[in-house]
Amino acid sequence: MVVRRAMGELVNHGKYAISDPIQYLYFIFDFISKRQFLNKKPYLQDKDDMVRNLFLMRLLHIDKNTVNRIISELYSDKAFIEYVTSSLRGVGRYIGEISSPEILYVVVRKMYPDIIVETGVAAGVSSAFILKALEDNGKGVLYSIDMPNYEVELSKQGVMRYPIAILPEGKEVGFAVPEWLKQRWHLTIGKSQNILTALLSKLGSIDIFLHDSEHTYANMYFEFSTAWQFLRKDGILISHDVSWNRAFSDFARKVKRKAIYMFGSDIGAVRKT
Ligand SMILES: C[S@@+](CC[C@H](N)C(=O)[O-])C[C@H]1O[C@@H](n2cnc3c(N)ncnc32)[C@H](O)[C@@H]1O
Repeated sequence: MVVRRAMGELVNHGKYAISDPIQYLYFIFDFISKRQFLNKKPYLQDKDDMVRNLFLMRLLHIDKNTVNRIISELYSDKAFIEYVTSSLRGVGRYIGEISSPEILYVVVRKMYPDIIVETGVAAGVSSAFILKALEDNGKGVLYSIDMPNYEVELSKQGVMRYPIAILPEGKEVGFAVPEWLKQRWHLTIGKSQNILTALLSKLGSIDIFLHDSEHTYANMYFEFSTAWQFLRKDGILISHDVSWNRAFSDFARKVKRKAIYMFGSDIGAVRKT
């Protein structure tokens, strides 16, 4: 059963092997690193991770010591790490949480932003790490948009093979976010297609945008191009699950910016230099 599902995933994405071999390579790395079929959790690793460090060094123009120093600061908050980890441990299955959420912490600590917008919350791992960094910075707010359990609908439409990011019974959106970090958080429930443009227009300018909601080509491209208009100069746009389709690479080419990828975590970023 496990092997059949794993093979199905590989074949399903096999078209990339021909049309875009590099993209397929990213997918394979991601597939192996998530190890979701072995029911292992890829998050919250505090080891010196070379792939992670390279990604952050290229994106933020910082050295390895700086990355490791910020990561150490993060992991020194045992209460935070334990809160997020135990929230997810209780679920016992992968529900779409971002791989390597510690990169978000480093980006936010270094960028020192005022306003961050993200789409796709579910358990709220990405939100928790962003909010932790804002708190440690002592400034900034996070606006999140989420349509809980929408992947049931997407899989009925054939967009996904099966829903992944489904909230456990009795749990609310953002259940992995510690209460003590919620004062900088503005969560809106609804589809990003209906909410994002108005939210960004209200905010005017943002420092960081993170996509982790509906990974269809149309929605990803819509979110990237809409957020880009409001992203300040030198701001950063990050996307999870960039191997699902070519929206991220097409977008980076369109705006003529270098796409920086993180192998194994299926993350891509562009900086509005
Ligand atoms: C992959 S999960 C987000 C994981 C989260 N970033 C984390 O790190 O824990 C995706 C979430 O986006 C929601 N979603 C899917 N399509 C959406 C849409 N069109 N608009 C808003 N949210 C959507 C899903 O229901 C789910 O809650």
